[in-house]
Amino acid sequence: MAQLLDGKATAKSVRGELKREIKRLVTLVERPPQSVFIQVGENPASTTYVNLKHKMAERIGCVSTIARMADSITQDELLECIQRYNEDRNVHGILVQLPLPEHIDESVIVQAISPRKDVDCFHPENVGRMIIGLPGPKPATPLGIVTLLDAYGIDVKGLNVTVVGRSNLVGKPLGIMLLLRHGTVTYCHTRTRDLAAECKRADLLIAAAGRAGIVTPEMIKPGAVVVDVGTNFIPAVDENGQPVLDENGQPKQQQVGDVEFNAAEQITAWISPVPGGVGPMTIASVLSNTVTLYKLIEGVD
Ligand code: GUN
Repeated sequence: MAQLLDGKATAKSVRGELKREIKRLVTLVERPPQSVFIQVGENPASTTYVNLKHKMAERIGCVSTIARMADSITQDELLECIQRYNEDRNVHGILVQLPLPEHIDESVIVQAISPRKDVDCFHPENVGRMIIGLPGPKPATPLGIVTLLDAYGIDVKGLNVTVVGRSNLVGKPLGIMLLLRHGTVTYCHTRTRDLAAECKRADLLIAAAGRAGIVTPEMIKPGAVVVDVGTNFIPAVDENGQPVLDENGQPKQQQVGDVEFNAAEQITAWISPVPGGVGPMTIASVLSNTVTLYKLIEGVD
């Protein structure tokens, strides 16, 4: 039976360390770290995430602002808003919550955030810095995953690592971060010929495809470490397979990962749950990047 990679508990301990670090740093710098979370429109999931990041930032001692913009904001207006925060001496971290409305080009917006204030580490300059090992922020979800592995003493060196998914935000940068830790990394994607065989070789299997149940227990090597990055919402069913309804009689949604958790936990050594695994670690990494950028901007260590 697997041991749990508990992201909720680990994120709490990371936040505790960051809080102590900020307390020490503010005695050296005139201003506290300040983050701005920009949300465009009213996507309920985005509201939940932005509120959570804001609350956690305040809790560790940052000054935090949520800038909410109407869905109808133009790309130029959003760029002007980002520019103001880029130039504001008091602001150290800027995050624009994705997805953005269709009339706004995400890539233009991501590249408009100053690389010096990019707490998600989405900017190509920062992704490049990470690849060659220069100081700066690290991609938030991948950083959360390596921090989680570190917390449980799991050393990636020499392991066969399979990453299922090659997104710019998770799969691609995570594979590189695990390579930098001396893993032997294989990427799998929609054109991979034999996904099951590639997964079965993995000592460390990362499921980051964004498809519920894509990793089945037959694809997992017994004793492997499995990190489930999926955040999928599917209709909830009860023990008889019947749909569960909410108080309004609507089908209730349930959050699941990319891995069939109940069967997988019987054969793995370690597994991260969904929810409570990678999600809280991503938020902790945004906070950790904020402190990294604060130190770089203010020239303290
Ligand atoms: N939308 C979903 N995940 C993320 C994230 O990590 N950062 C931002 N900015 N938007 C997201």
